[in-house]
Amino acid sequence: MEVLKKVNSDIVIVGTGIAGLFTALNINPKYKVTLISKATLEKNNSQMAQGGIAVSIDKEIHFQDTLKAGGYCNNLETLKILVDESTENIHKLMFFGVNFDKDEKGNLKLAREGGHSQNSILHVKDATGKEIVKILSQQVRERRNIEIDEDIFVLDILTEGNTAKGIVVINKEGEKLFYKGKAVVIATGGIGQIYKNTTNDTIATGDGIAMAYRASAEIGDMEFIQFHPTAFYSAEGGQCFLISEAVRGEGGILRNHNGEAFMEKYHEMQDLAPRDIVARSIFTEMKKNHKPFVYLDITHKSSDFIKNRFPTIYNYCLSKGVDMTKNYIPIAPVEHYVMGGILTNKEGKTNIEGLYACGECACTGIHGSNRLASNSLLEGIVFGNRVANAINQFIPNYKKEDSVFSHYNNPKKPIDQKETPIEIHFLRKDLKNIMQQQVCIVRSKAELENALEAIKEIKDQLMKYREDNMDYYELNNMVTVAMLIIKAALKRKKSIGSHYLVG
Ligand code: SIN
Repeated sequence: MEVLKKVNSDIVIVGTGIAGLFTALNINPKYKVTLISKATLEKNNSQMAQGGIAVSIDKEIHFQDTLKAGGYCNNLETLKILVDESTENIHKLMFFGVNFDKDEKGNLKLAREGGHSQNSILHVKDATGKEIVKILSQQVRERRNIEIDEDIFVLDILTEGNTAKGIVVINKEGEKLFYKGKAVVIATGGIGQIYKNTTNDTIATGDGIAMAYRASAEIGDMEFIQFHPTAFYSAEGGQCFLISEAVRGEGGILRNHNGEAFMEKYHEMQDLAPRDIVARSIFTEMKKNHKPFVYLDITHKSSDFIKNRFPTIYNYCLSKGVDMTKNYIPIAPVEHYVMGGILTNKEGKTNIEGLYACGECACTGIHGSNRLASNSLLEGIVFGNRVANAINQFIPNYKKEDSVFSHYNNPKKPIDQKETPIEIHFLRKDLKNIMQQQVCIVRSKAELENALEAIKEIKDQLMKYREDNMDYYELNNMVTVAMLIIKAALKRKKSIGSHYLVG
C-alpha cells in the first residue's frame, strides 16, 4: 500500500474534449472542479472534428435517421433526450461564443452528411471542433472554480465499496497523487490509437474505459467500432487526416480506380449512406481492385467554393501534393469512433456511486451499432450538461466521511530492468497491427480468436515485467480495451451495423 499526497476537489473531471469542458462549465460555480488532461487542455479528439454538430431541426427526422444508421438497436430513451435537448444545448454553445457559419441573410447554414435525410449540421467551415474547443477552453480558463491540471496521467479510479472516492494519477515528475473528489467524471474520449490507422489523436488510448472497467464499472457495446470512410490515404498509415463527410455532403463522389462512381451499387443513399455501409463498400472495392485506397472526387465544384468551404482540407491535401480542386483525393476507411464504452443511465451515472461518464467513452446507447454523422459533438454537450445537473444535485447530499482515504494498492512488483526489459513500443505496434488486421471493418470468428490469443500474449508480457511509467500504463489500458472489443465481438454472433461478420 502506498500512501499518497492528496489534492482536494469537489468534482474531478478526466478528459478535456467537448464533453469534459461542457460538463465543467455547467457545474454550479460554488463547487471546485479539477479538470485533468493527459496532455494539454486543447489536445483532444473533439478539436479535430471537422464536419460539424447535428441539430434536431425536425426532431422526428433526426430521431429516425439516428435509429436507421444505428441498425435499430439504439436506446430509445437516451436518443429521445438527445433530440429533445439538442437545441437548448446548442444555444448554450452559441451563448459561450461559438459562431457557426451563417448565410448572407444571417441565417445559420445547415450542411448534410451521411445517413441524414435533411440538411441539419451546423458547422464552422471545416474546423467545427477546433472552434468549439477554443471557445470552451477560453471559458474554462476564466472560471475561478475550475482548476486545470495538464500532463497528468490517471492510473486508476479509487473506490470504497461501490463508491468512487477520487483518482490516482502520476505526474510528469513520476510522482503519484490522490485527487479526492465527491464525484468523478470520465470524459476521456476514444480508443483510436489501439488501431494502426485512425483519425484519432495520439491521446486516444481508451484510458477512461480501461480504468472504469478495473473499478468494476459496467462496459457495453464495445464490438461497435466505427470506421470513417474517408481518411486521406498514405502508405505509412498511423494517425490519418480526416476528409470530412461534409465533402460528400457538398456533392463529393467516391470513385474506384477505373473512375467509376460505385456507391449506387451498394445503397440508395449512394455516397451519403450511413458510415458503416460506405466504409464496407469502399473496403469491397479496394479488395476487388487490389488497391489500398479509392478516390473522392469534388472537382466538379468551383475552386472558390472548395477553398472557402473546406480550407483546412484543401490546404492539407495541397501539402501532400493533391490539389482537390483539380484532382481526386486518395482515401481509405480508418478507425474513427467507438459506439460502446462505460454504461451510463440518462444522467450519465454509472453503476458506481459518484462515478459518471460522458462523451465518446460513455455508452448511452444513443448510437446503436453505428453512429450517425455529427451526433458525437451533440452527445458531448447534451450528456455533459446532464452529468453536470446530476452532480449539482448529488453534491449537497454527499455524506461527509471521516476516514482520510488516500491509500493505493498498486499491484506492482519491483522492476528488474536488467533481467528482461520489455520493449513497450514494439508491443504497442504489435497490438495496433493485430487490431488493424483482425478486428476491423469485416471480421471472422477465426480472426477474432487469433487476435485474442495474440493480445493475451502481450498482456502476459506486461504482467510479467511490470514497469512504473506512463507508457507502460497506457499500453496496459490499450490491451484492456482491445480485449473488451474482441470479447464483445465474439459474443455477438450476427452482423449488425459496424459489427460485420464473414465466414
Ligand atoms: C466528419 O466530419 O466527417 C466527421 C464528423 C463525425 O465524426 O461525425
